Amino acid sequence: MTNIILLGPPGAGKGTQAKRLVEERGMVQLSTGDMLREARTSGTEMGRKVAAVMDAGHLVTDDIVVGLIEEKLTHGAAAGGYIFDGFPRTLKQADALGALMARIGQPLDAVIELRVDDEALKQRIVGRFTCGNCGAVYHDMNHPPKVSGTCDACGGTAMKRRADDTEEALRTRMLAYYRDTSPLVGYYYAKGQLATVDGLAEMDAVSAALAKVLDT
Ligand code: AP5
Repeated sequence: MTNIILLGPPGAGKGTQAKRLVEERGMVQLSTGDMLREARTSGTEMGRKVAAVMDAGHLVTDDIVVGLIEEKLTHGAAAGGYIFDGFPRTLKQADALGALMARIGQPLDAVIELRVDDEALKQRIVGRFTCGNCGAVYHDMNHPPKVSGTCDACGGTAMKRRADDTEEALRTRMLAYYRDTSPLVGYYYAKGQLATVDGLAEMDAVSAALAKVLDT
């Protein structure tokens, strides 16, 4: 079992690679972005609170996201290990995750930074869409479905684009990344847990580089 964090700015490929690891290794993806998007459609008070924050590209408060992760982590732990996707995003969240893992008696095996070029991110984000049924991630140019409008994975035809995938919201998301999240690169490097992978490579090459980190 291996527990990892995928770290990187918006569009770095965290979700794409996490889904591959789930399929190939039976790992469990814990994406705070997906959890928050689920919460906002549930009609709860918390969902209403986070919707506007997310659409503008700001970070949701630490207490909310740490609470969401805490609910998912179990003492039995995931057989293939956890992939933390988009969490932690602040030093406070990183400390909270360390405490939660210690509480369930699990190690954090690696923190993998997907390093990318900021200009490439813009192109990736504005071209992204997902299957509304199974969540498979596509891109207009880099990764279209084999049959236009039909999901390769489940055959669903309801494709969705995210409300925060606009150039304006992306600028705010990138600012949040460089201000609040990028210090985690140094934090985990100093702890001896950081590995870096070229996130600009082809998807299969990124997967191969991740596999190398996981298997050493
Ligand atoms: P979240 O959902 O986590 O979004 P994000 O971090 O901005 O990351 P993305 O999902 O946009 O990108 P990704 O790295 O997963 O890239 P993907 O694989 O899709 O968070 C959304 C919001 O929720 C935040 O702004 C915040 O408000 C809130 N939030 C979430 N977590 C929080 C937390 N912990 N604390 C506070 N607030 C939180 O790929 C992108 C595109 O590129 C796709 O179209 C894909 O097909 C394509 N692509 C991927 N890899 C490649 C490749 N190698 N080559 C070419 N194209 C590629």
